[in-house]
Amino acid sequence: MCGIVGYVGKHKAASILLEGLKRLEYRGYDSAGIAVLQGGRFNVAKKVGRVEALVREAAKFTFTGKTGICHTRWATHGGVTDANAHPHVSSDGKLVLVHNGVIENYVSIKKFLLSKDYTFKSETDTEVLCNLIAYHYAKEPVSDSRSRFFESVRKALLHIEGTYGIAVMCVDFPDEIVAARKGSPLLLGVGDNEFILASDASALVSRTRNVVYLKDGELVHVTKDEFSITTVDQAEVSPVVDQITWSIKDAELNGYAHFMEKEIFEQPAALENAMRGRFSEDGSTAQFGGLNLTAADFRVIDRYCFTSCGTAWHACLVAEHLIERFARIPVEVDYASEFRYRNAPLDRDVLFFVVSQSGETIDTLAALREAKRKGYKVMAICNVVGSTIARESDGGIYQHAGPEIGVASTKAFTSQLLIVAMFALYVARMRDMSYADGASYVQGLRAVPELVRKTLEQAPHIKEIASRYAKYNDFLFLGRLSLFPIALEGALKLKEISYIHAEGYPAAEMKHGPIALINEECPSVFFVPKGDIFNKIVSSMQEIKARKGKIIAIVTEGCELPAGLADDVITIPECHDAALPIISCIPVQLLSYYIAVARGCDVDKPRNLAKSVTVE
Ligand code: G6P
Repeated sequence: MCGIVGYVGKHKAASILLEGLKRLEYRGYDSAGIAVLQGGRFNVAKKVGRVEALVREAAKFTFTGKTGICHTRWATHGGVTDANAHPHVSSDGKLVLVHNGVIENYVSIKKFLLSKDYTFKSETDTEVLCNLIAYHYAKEPVSDSRSRFFESVRKALLHIEGTYGIAVMCVDFPDEIVAARKGSPLLLGVGDNEFILASDASALVSRTRNVVYLKDGELVHVTKDEFSITTVDQAEVSPVVDQITWSIKDAELNGYAHFMEKEIFEQPAALENAMRGRFSEDGSTAQFGGLNLTAADFRVIDRYCFTSCGTAWHACLVAEHLIERFARIPVEVDYASEFRYRNAPLDRDVLFFVVSQSGETIDTLAALREAKRKGYKVMAICNVVGSTIARESDGGIYQHAGPEIGVASTKAFTSQLLIVAMFALYVARMRDMSYADGASYVQGLRAVPELVRKTLEQAPHIKEIASRYAKYNDFLFLGRLSLFPIALEGALKLKEISYIHAEGYPAAEMKHGPIALINEECPSVFFVPKGDIFNKIVSSMQEIKARKGKIIAIVTEGCELPAGLADDVITIPECHDAALPIISCIPVQLLSYYIAVARGCDVDKPRNLAKSVTVE
């Protein structure tokens, strides 16, 4: 939520900042702004709208300075206006700041600052922090010492409750930025005689792959020659420089119309990456390098708790189904935002899993911390290497899906599904699953990238179906067992990017309420896989048809539906049951994508949403 970029170096800052900001736009996109320090003053441009609007606005300025900060906003405090857009300049004109997060105690601080004659131009919590730093700056003994600026930021942060990733400039120290984080991501790119601060690596990877991930409670003081890291409590930190393993090409459209489309088609490769090196030599189970638990540790676990948000929560529901079915171990699934407040009673031998593409979702992070506080070990399934959740967990499994930029998760979701399927196998083989069943499970998962490729070949057919259904404003998605979470995911995808009302239900549950919605204007998408309950699902379809509901059926190849029952059919290849959620998800991703395109929606940046939700 909100993206920030800062630059100190030998080049003019503005174009580098704006280029970086474009890559962070998925984090929030209601307004944007930039401040460059030049000629002893801040040049500030801000604009409601996308980064593109800011670029046009910035063209009216002559930005020559080599130190600057910028921001793309997802509004929390204060409406979407130019005045509320960041950066915010302190009322004495000394400091300028960009912020990602929420200052919870801003009301009392604002009252204090008003009593000290600081003034405010915006309704934001951020401007309060900026003026608080200015207040401390004014109190520091006047000197040219660099520490004056740094100390004023540090002292201000001691009074802050809430979350922040900030970058601050001071008019008296032209080649410097002080940045800090607590609860919002921030990293420092260490380039060739230049430093770039950013909310995530995509904003700086075109200039350097060497990065330092800041931890909560750390401040970094960057000058044009060097940087140093200290905690808010004044402990020195030895920085660790990590290497980003992907390149800028991975974060570009490469000929696709949208990132969502690109990421849907990248799934075979993402799935191959998720399974690489993770099957045992005898081909009968999975293996993971980062769980930091022995087989004996796993033997005593008698319950798993999975928690996360959004699409990742649907992956947790699939985990529940697969682990309970194949390993016969009970699984509980919680929304992270609920778990942290509901004070769940928990047994002793419980292992926690949090699932998060970004590794920064604040509710998921809070759930992780709550479970750890209670003394439980927490494993993380994350895509973003070095993310806060990955770092704070006791162990975990990286997805290796590559950067996911479209706000609606696609390749990260299916790679989460694959990983939970592999994990179910891993624990099942420690219990009662035989070698032969394990071997056939492994073969089933190894086939997944190819089966996904085959399913993607249906894209033109699904596009044609989408063009006929794009006019409807209500949809039901109906699936059973492991495909109930995929029904939820199909409905979520359609809601997110097409603004169509859609609901996911277990197919049989549909008759207890949702069936009241059915008429010629409310189509249903049914998941109809081969298997024991094929006929039961067909009966549910009959009930819809009897009420003139249109049906799109996603059916396993070779399965015959009664003639005329489905209005449109999308076939999926036969696969292992553990792979079924992955393969079944592909058609609904494509369907929602093509419907959103047909309705002229901004697929990669749906209204009101942000990819990485770093506020509660
Ligand atoms: C947001 C995104 C979703 C995502 C969810 C959880 O709501 O729009 O696509 O599933 O956050 O994100 P995470 O990074 O924790 O998986």
